[in-house]
Amino acid sequence: MRRTNKDGDLEKDRVRHMAGNLTTNQGVGVDNTDDSLKAGKRGPTLMEDFIFREKITHFDHERIPERIVHARGSGAHGHFQVYESLSHLTKAHFLSDPELVTPVFVRFSTVAGFRGSADTVRDVRGFAVKFYTQEGNYDIVGNNMPVFFVQDAIKFPDVIHAVKPEPNNEIPQAASAHDTFWDFVANTPESMHNVMWLMSPRALPRSYRMMEGFGIHTFRFINAQGESQFVKFHWKPLLGVHSLVWDEAQKIAGKDPDFNRRDLWENIENGMPAEFELGVQLLDPKDEFKFDFDILDCSKLWPEELIPVRKIGKLTLNRNVDNFFAETEQVAFCPANVVPGIDFTNDPMLQGRLFSYLDTQISRLGGPNFHQIPINRPIVPVNNNQRDGMHRMTIDAGQTSYHPNALNNNEPHSATEGESRFEHYQVRIDGNVIRERSESFRDHFSQPAMFWNSMAAHEQVHIIDAFCFELGKCLNVNTRQTLVNMLTNVNADLAKAVGDGLGLKPEGKGRPSPNPMASPALSMDNTVKSPKTSKTAVIIENGFDKAQFDAVTTAITKAGGVFDVVSKKLGPVPSSDKGTVECRKTYATAASVLYDAVFVPSGAHVDSLKTSGDARHFVNETYKHFKTVGLGGDALGLLKTERAKGTVSESDVMAGVVTCEARGDALRFADDYVAALAKGRHFERSNAVIGVSA
Ligand code: HEM
Repeated sequence: MRRTNKDGDLEKDRVRHMAGNLTTNQGVGVDNTDDSLKAGKRGPTLMEDFIFREKITHFDHERIPERIVHARGSGAHGHFQVYESLSHLTKAHFLSDPELVTPVFVRFSTVAGFRGSADTVRDVRGFAVKFYTQEGNYDIVGNNMPVFFVQDAIKFPDVIHAVKPEPNNEIPQAASAHDTFWDFVANTPESMHNVMWLMSPRALPRSYRMMEGFGIHTFRFINAQGESQFVKFHWKPLLGVHSLVWDEAQKIAGKDPDFNRRDLWENIENGMPAEFELGVQLLDPKDEFKFDFDILDCSKLWPEELIPVRKIGKLTLNRNVDNFFAETEQVAFCPANVVPGIDFTNDPMLQGRLFSYLDTQISRLGGPNFHQIPINRPIVPVNNNQRDGMHRMTIDAGQTSYHPNALNNNEPHSATEGESRFEHYQVRIDGNVIRERSESFRDHFSQPAMFWNSMAAHEQVHIIDAFCFELGKCLNVNTRQTLVNMLTNVNADLAKAVGDGLGLKPEGKGRPSPNPMASPALSMDNTVKSPKTSKTAVIIENGFDKAQFDAVTTAITKAGGVFDVVSKKLGPVPSSDKGTVECRKTYATAASVLYDAVFVPSGAHVDSLKTSGDARHFVNETYKHFKTVGLGGDALGLLKTERAKGTVSESDVMAGVVTCEARGDALRFADDYVAALAKGRHFERSNAVIGVSA
């Protein structure tokens, strides 16, 4: 295995500030930065106080503009390794050598919210990957949804202006549930496919470790012979794709706005890396026009059932940043950062993006030299005639800074054959200059219909409820009506159900595809499920059954899950056998929404738990959100299931509720509990839960 080293490259710039005396930025020793220099102890501060001025001036300039989109994000370091050489497909060096370990930096983000907004809002998530390859930096700047709202980059400012807080009152923060967004959608049918994804559970990832990523656009692979294949990129999380439910997501936004950030950080700190496989969908250019969608249209996906995803390598994120600002905030991704062997297509969204990122970063990072910031610096030498500009870090010695030259033997020279160099793929273009969209981009509803058709029942319920919530917050009734009418083009039942929730009737019949295909890959019901994604809250108070506690917590750990002990106060909690277990979370600092499951062992503590509103709420809210509930002995009495008469069977009501007699077999209980964890959420309960939808 051969590793290239970005960590070592960053080490050159790390400063640890551990020992040594305090100095000014000029290196002058300072004995006191707690008091300013004054004329008399109670007198006025003196202008002469250069130490005060330097400290305050620096503080005054500590913020840079946040990203205009994707302002809220979290980053991590890691590496990528291809499974086998793809040199027959692409000459990209990092994809041709399975022995090579390429360093990467990844930033996950939300799109609409400001930098301090909550993680769990309903939104698209960014999934941006920078590969520090031996041929320069390569970025896949993708999202967790495989399509986009608009088909041409010139409309990007419009969709973003519409979704951002409204300009007159800057309300609402990090939310699409307001008039301008839905007004835009009502007038932009091409947005419907991405809107369907946005209304689905995909918009509420349980964790950045449990989220798919997509390069969205069609790119090209080019091999050493100059042969090209169209390619789409996918990131597939090893833990599967999992989401929150809406009620939970909203509560987490208050209880722990850093929920996704904390999850990524803590898991990496605890030695549990985030792992994804890189997949590609490949298309021979001769098949470019074979489908009923245009492969250059980024509002369409390539169904995996038609064009399979081939897994080509693995991404592992296993190191947290040393400094959020220096790394996560200053990192600059750009879809135009490509390496030899990977090229663009004429997708008009992609083409616009190739301009926008470098442009915005000049403003965000204060000048044209941000490629020299350590996190953005490639691991290979940069050698050209660019000079000067704001914050230039290198001292570019020598007389010449132009080409051609004789004074420096024409160096740096144009890369020659045999040296790594980017060669643009030669495509013949023949067309009139025209400001129009291709006819082949005009079908805006077949794929939204396919998406709807592919959803499990609980996912469809989620989508209906999401539309009702979002449009319910849109005050303009005409906009609501237009949306309900538009939905008839996707599915008549969907339109009717959303209309019902809004007190409206769909007008017009719509033109839904008569028989849209279903793509099972689109449903999260078909994802990988494992107890490894779970975090259990174990509720105990004085007198809990230690044998049962030990059996279940050991089984959780063995299965790769984690747990926290939660009680009414911190410190040791006495058990039935006169031992103790340390409690590190209380009902005040923990909440059911921050966990995937709850376990209450049997024991004398149950009587006291039954009188605790906090404990009862914890258990019942866990149940409401379709999560696993383990209740030993009398603890079953903590659960109050609700059901509409005759609509739901006992087995559905009790799905994912694991019980055990007080003296029952603790090991069997532990096995059953872990088996329930492995199923993820228990949506069979849907009808037993009143007022909370999937
Ligand atoms: C398929 C469509 C798109 C995807 C998947 C996408 C994805 C992303 C991602 C992941 C980021 C955050 C990068 C980071 O973590 O720093 C980002 C930022 C950004 N995007 Fe896009 N984007 C899309 C379309 C566009 C378009 C069409 C434009 C403009 C023409 C655009 C302009 C920007 C800008 C200005 C930023 C902020 C960059 C910065 O300040 O560093 N995006 N985008």
